Amino acid sequence: MLIIMFLFMGGISMLSEKLIAKLNEQVNFEIYSAYTYLSMASYCESIDLSGFANFFKVQSQEELFHAMKFYDYIFQKNGTVTLEQIEKPHSDFDNILNVFEAGYEHEQMVTSRLYKIADIATEEKEHSTIGLLNWFINEQVEEENTFNTIIKKIRRCENNSAALYMLDDELATRVYTPPTTTNA
Ligand code: FEO
Repeated sequence: MLIIMFLFMGGISMLSEKLIAKLNEQVNFEIYSAYTYLSMASYCESIDLSGFANFFKVQSQEELFHAMKFYDYIFQKNGTVTLEQIEKPHSDFDNILNVFEAGYEHEQMVTSRLYKIADIATEEKEHSTIGLLNWFINEQVEEENTFNTIIKKIRRCENNSAALYMLDDELATRVYTPPTTTNA
């Protein structure tokens, strides 16, 4: 009987405790990211840049999607999600450029965290988790590039409020569309 149970358990592709802990941390961090971007949206609203605020509200929704993608994956792999207290996000920005620089830094931190989890998944030969993380890592190329591109545009608007309001209009058109591909 014990042998049968052992063989049966051997057939379940379970995650290690170490990997579950790291994926759990990432669920919480993605929620913190959503909170961070909502705080940035609030700052933009407070200086009457509603298009920039819209950009961050959409960004916040994307981060919640990311959190739920990790959340669902952990349960699919027979793990459990533990939600932690979410840290207070920054809200003391100097100007719109400063907000996007902080967002860019945040995305670079996300990439670095994902690389570390991918390193662990690779060490453990946990191929399905590597596949999941590759989806996120590819997303990060776009996320970082989006922030960097907007930073460059804001810098070009320096001392030109008309150009800044044009950029605000452009960002007002951003809409949230949940990814629908099979990998998403
Ligand atoms: Fe979930 Fe913006 O990384």
